[in-house]
This record gives sequence, structure tokens and C-alpha cells, in this order.
Amino acid sequence: MTDAPTRLTIRRPDDWHVHLRDGAVLNGVAKYTAHQFARAIVMPNLSPPVTTVEAGRAYRERIVAAAGPGFTPLMTAYLTDSIAPDEVARGHSDGVFTAAKLYPAHATTGSAHGVTDVANIRKVLERMEAIGMPLLVHGEVTDSHVDIFDREAVFIERTLAPLVRDLPGLKVVFEHITTAEAAAFVAESGPNVAATITPQHLHINRNAMFAGGIRPHMYCLPVAKREHHRLALRKAATSGSAKFFLGTDSAPHAVGAKEASCGCAGIFNAPYALESYIAVFEEEGALDKFEGFASLNGPAFYGLPVNEGTVTLEKAPVTVPDVIDANGTPIVPFHAGETLGWRFIG
Ligand code: NCD
Ligand code: ZN
Repeated sequence: MTDAPTRLTIRRPDDWHVHLRDGAVLNGVAKYTAHQFARAIVMPNLSPPVTTVEAGRAYRERIVAAAGPGFTPLMTAYLTDSIAPDEVARGHSDGVFTAAKLYPAHATTGSAHGVTDVANIRKVLERMEAIGMPLLVHGEVTDSHVDIFDREAVFIERTLAPLVRDLPGLKVVFEHITTAEAAAFVAESGPNVAATITPQHLHINRNAMFAGGIRPHMYCLPVAKREHHRLALRKAATSGSAKFFLGTDSAPHAVGAKEASCGCAGIFNAPYALESYIAVFEEEGALDKFEGFASLNGPAFYGLPVNEGTVTLEKAPVTVPDVIDANGTPIVPFHAGETLGWRFIG
């Protein structure tokens, strides 16, 4: 037996799914993502959403200004029922849109302008398939008759499996997967189908939302599921399969918007993202798989080079603050008040 490592150096990682918001909050949160990650796929669910090349370009400039040098935001187009295939394709060829995001209408925060039926965007998807532009999917049905804990599994059956079958050349990232069914679907699909996994879905199951009372800061969408799903996600993330990669889904909301009679979905995990993920890889005895998940599999799927440079984490206790001031907006981070076992050095 060799001694367990106390330092780990990996190629500089990327976050393949993040919400950076806009305005004052963008200026308060972008630095956390830029501190740990070289690039990030930035979600377009602003108000109004990013549905044009011009809006994507302008938002990218605001992010670059907020994050400072050394960080590259990769932008996404927000698909609507009426978005033109030409606009999406032009954004891709102009180097503005790396990918496009499918939000089923009303599935989650900022999805009111989303797609009501994938049949409505068939021409867009065919065009994306032809030009090799990845489709990023929020995979939940919105039918209120479907139990919220089943909405991801039902989405696979009703929407995703048929889509992947009909458009086999389309690159699809099944975002923030939360179920054993999703992990199995991705593992069994062809090389064009991959998934991101968040830190929260590796750490918590649905009990965390109800531990001693209602816990709004443990609520995100897709909602955390039963323990056996969490275990399946941990297995997928640490398996070494190139189909699974890091995407935090960091989704900051002001404390007051979370702690409310109708609180927003979203967990802000950017400030301690790598510390959170590495804890899982250590617990699973899979530190040797961490670099693939965090730094190699994502670029390989997107057809981008891996980053230059490295980051190092060391075994040392780090206490996560109860609240973070994001440029005037108080936000409760994931793991608030907990002590994590690894420290990000940089
Ligand atoms: C996200 C947000 O707040 O923008 N919330 C969340 O719970 N993940 C939207 C999303 O990714 O579903
Ligand atoms: Zn998200």
C-alpha cells in the first residue's frame, strides 16, 4: 500500500455548466469561477434570455470585464420555439455560441421562454447536427402530472431517447444528471452523448432538503433524488468514462430569494467547487480519475484543446463561510458552515 496522496496537481480544469447572472451579481460571482477554471460554458437564462448572436457577444464582453484576464467564457444560445436556425448557426460560425441550450418551457429558473415541444425546433437541431454544434439539455418533462422526482427519467423515455435515435450525429450533453437512469442512458448511448454532473448531486440526496426542517439552500433543479441515484452518479463520475465531466450548475440566488414562501431553485457552489468534487473522488478511492473528469473529458467532447497549466489541491481543512457577499448581494454557498478536507492552492 502506498500512502494516500496529500497533494494533487491536475491540468487546469473547466466548468461545463455555470450560471454567472448579469449586472452587479455577475460582478460579484464571476471571480470565483475564473479563480478555479480556465473556461466555462455559460448558461443563457438571463432575463431576457440570450437568443441572438448580438446578445451573446455583448454578454460575453460583460463576463470578460467582470472575470478579468485568463478566463474564457464559452457562450450558449437559448433555444426558443421560434429561434431561427440561421441565427444559431451564425453564432456558431462567428465563434460566439459554442453550444445551444434546450430548456423545456417552465422546467426551471429562467425557462419561461423555453421550448414547448422539441418538434418546434427540429430544423434548428438538424442544422446543429450538420455543423457539429452541441445541444445542451435540461432533461426534465414539465407535465405537472408527472411526479417531480420522476421527471428526468420520463424525459429520457419521452424526449431524449427518440431525439438521439432520430439525430444520431447530434452531439448532446445531458446536463446535471440526477438519476441512475440518466447515468445508464449516457453510458449506453453512442459517443455523441455525454453528461455533466454537479457537486451537489454527488454529495446530497433528497433527504438533505428536509433535514430537521425545510432547507431551501439544498434545493435545485433537477431536484436531488434518492440515495441509490446519488450512488449511481458517484460511480459514473469516478468510473473513468470519458462521457462524464464536470459541470457545477452553480446557480446563485440572493438569500432572500431562496428563503421565501416560494424559493428559487439553484445552489451556489462556485467558490468551493473543486474542493467539493475532490472530496467525492477521495471518498470513492478514485483520485486518479479526477483529472479526466475535471480537465480532459469535457474538452475532448467539445473538440477543444485541453488547457495549458495546472492547478493544485492539498489536503488541509477549509471552512466554507455561512454567507458570501457577491458585490452587495448575500448568497449562501453550498457546504455553508462545513469544513472540507482539501484546499485549492491554485
Ligand atoms: C438554475 C438557475 O437558477 O438558473 N437553477 C437550478 O436549480 N439549477 C437553472 C437550471 O439550471 O435549472
Ligand atoms: Zn443550470
